[in-house]
Amino acid sequence: MSTDLRGRPLVKELDLTPGEFRRLLDLAARLKAERATGTERQRLQGRTVALIFEKASTRTRCAFEVAAAHQGAATTCLDPSGSHLGHKESVRDTARVLGRLYDAVQFRGAAQETAEELAAHAGVPVYNGLTDDWHPTQMLADVLTMTEHCSRPLDRIAYAYLGDARSNMGNSYLVTGALLGMDVRIAAPGKLWPRDAVVARARELAATTGARITLTEDVGEGVRGTDFVATDVWVSMGEPPEVWDERIALLRPYAVTMDVLRATGNDEVRFLHCLPAFHDLGTAVARELHARHGLESLEVTDEVFESEHSVVFDEAENRMHTIKALLVATLAE
Ligand code: CP
Ligand code: NVA
Repeated sequence: MSTDLRGRPLVKELDLTPGEFRRLLDLAARLKAERATGTERQRLQGRTVALIFEKASTRTRCAFEVAAAHQGAATTCLDPSGSHLGHKESVRDTARVLGRLYDAVQFRGAAQETAEELAAHAGVPVYNGLTDDWHPTQMLADVLTMTEHCSRPLDRIAYAYLGDARSNMGNSYLVTGALLGMDVRIAAPGKLWPRDAVVARARELAATTGARITLTEDVGEGVRGTDFVATDVWVSMGEPPEVWDERIALLRPYAVTMDVLRATGNDEVRFLHCLPAFHDLGTAVARELHARHGLESLEVTDEVFESEHSVVFDEAENRMHTIKALLVATLAE
């Protein structure tokens, strides 16, 4: 079951070739099937993985811990309050220490440069568990979920991402689809499109992979004929709460509603969200925004989130299977 990724980092999607990305998905599907049939074999016994979290996480942390445990590896979680990282010790020194003790390091935080610096100095694989720029382990889960809900090959799958597209998820959806030769639509206000450099790189890649790239402010054009509609929170971790009002004003027309799903013209369209999602009033932030704006939901309505179109919990489960594939591919003998 080995792949050719032993010792390799994953700090952004474009660290992988299209073939490597696809082989990781195949490995994840095989590991998922092994788990389901009770035939999983431990390939990472004695391995150790450090998990650095400068930002909060439910899925990513749990997915790494559970995937490692299933495969016989041990994990240590570090957060800024419980370690010297960034306060008393530089990223470079931390990388060299962790690289002596651990077989791999996961990093979640704001700066992509920190993930890159860890990877440059750790001497072991470093995985990006989300930065402000990219969320590559999420993309592995999302594309695995697409393969499970659409029988066509990846290069004949179309998806649209609606919402805040200049954040990690928008960037990652754009380059991942470009890498895999897919039909990628970004529907967002121009102010919130991915940076020009990211769009240029995606277009350059598309020219070699056959991907179709559309950036539009028009929701109808964005979603027409798509197999998947995806969104993300409108204000990401690390952004100040003051931006909510402006963001809501900009993004209200891009909320995923049943009308948006109908506009795909595809009865079988599926809804994706990396989660957490503001689809109801179940959180303090949502209730506070409801008091100010009168909105029952933000980026996706509860109707869509709870509908048969929604595959968000398959997607969340697939974080674990795909992260397991990444660990096995980079760390197993
Ligand atoms: N989707 C995702 O990365 O979730 P967490 O923030 O809970 O890890
Ligand atoms: N864009 C979101 C993704 C959360 C998984 C954030 O960075 O907060």
